Amino acid sequence: MTVLTLSAEDRHHGDLILVNRSYPLHGTALVRRGDLETQLMAADPAWPEVLLARPAALALQRAMRDLGAEGKIVPVSGYRSREEQEKIYRDSLEENGPEFTKKYVALPDRSEHQTGLAIDLGEGGAELDFIRPSFPDDGICGLFKKEAARYGFVLRYPKGREAVMGIAYEPWHFRYVGCPHASIMAEKGMVLEEYLEYLENCADGLTWAEGENLAEIRYIHGGENGTEIAVPENCPYQVSGDNREGFIITVWRRR
Ligand code: DAL
Ligand code: ZN
Repeated sequence: MTVLTLSAEDRHHGDLILVNRSYPLHGTALVRRGDLETQLMAADPAWPEVLLARPAALALQRAMRDLGAEGKIVPVSGYRSREEQEKIYRDSLEENGPEFTKKYVALPDRSEHQTGLAIDLGEGGAELDFIRPSFPDDGICGLFKKEAARYGFVLRYPKGREAVMGIAYEPWHFRYVGCPHASIMAEKGMVLEEYLEYLENCADGLTWAEGENLAEIRYIHGGENGTEIAVPENCPYQVSGDNREGFIITVWRRR
C-alpha cells in the first residue's frame, strides 16, 4: 500500500467536484491546481476558442470521432472565467429578466463552466442560442446523449430534477465526471448531488465491473488538517475531491 497525504484544499479539486448554489468554487479553483493554459485545451479543434479541461476535451473529441458527430454537434460554451460568468449573468438579467436568468444561468462561482468540466453542445447547422442552444433528443444529438456516459459525461440538468439542482432542464449542458462514475450515475438515474451522497453512505464502498476491469470506489471524509489515504501500489487509481467535505477514491483492478 502507498499512503497519500491530501490537504484540506485538495477537497476542492478533481473531476467529481460538486459546484452549485450551495457549493461554490473554492478560490480560483480550476479542476486541478496549476496554470490555466496547461490545463485547458480546445473542446473541438474546429472551435479553438471553446476550451475544456484536458481530460474532458480529450474524452469529448474521442466521443465525437467514434460517433461520427464531428461538425454535426458543435461546442457552444466550455470553460468560462469568473468575469465571463459575471458578464453572462448580468447581460441575461438585462435581456431576459431575473426569472429566466435564475433558471438557466448560474451565479458567478456557482457555475460548473468555471471548472473547465462543463460543455454546452448544440446541433450543428442550427442558429445557436448562446444560453439555450438547440440539442434535440433525436438524430446525432440523441445518439451523443445515449452514449455520453461511456466517455465520462453526464447530462447534468435532466428533466424533472430542478428542485435538487436549482437549475432548469438543460438538454445541452454536459458535465465530465469521468469513468466509471458517469455510467453509474446514468444507470442509477442520479444527478451529481445524489451520487455523492450515495457514495458517502456506501459504508463498504461500491464495486463496478467494466469489461475486464473492476472499479472499487470509496468515499473518505477529509479532515481540516489533511487526510491520509491508503491505495494499492500496483493498481491505477484516481482521487477527486467533492468540493464538500471529502474525497472519492477510484481503484482499478483486473477481474
Ligand atoms: N447554464 C449553467 C447552469 C451555468 O450557467 O453554469
Ligand atoms: Zn452550460
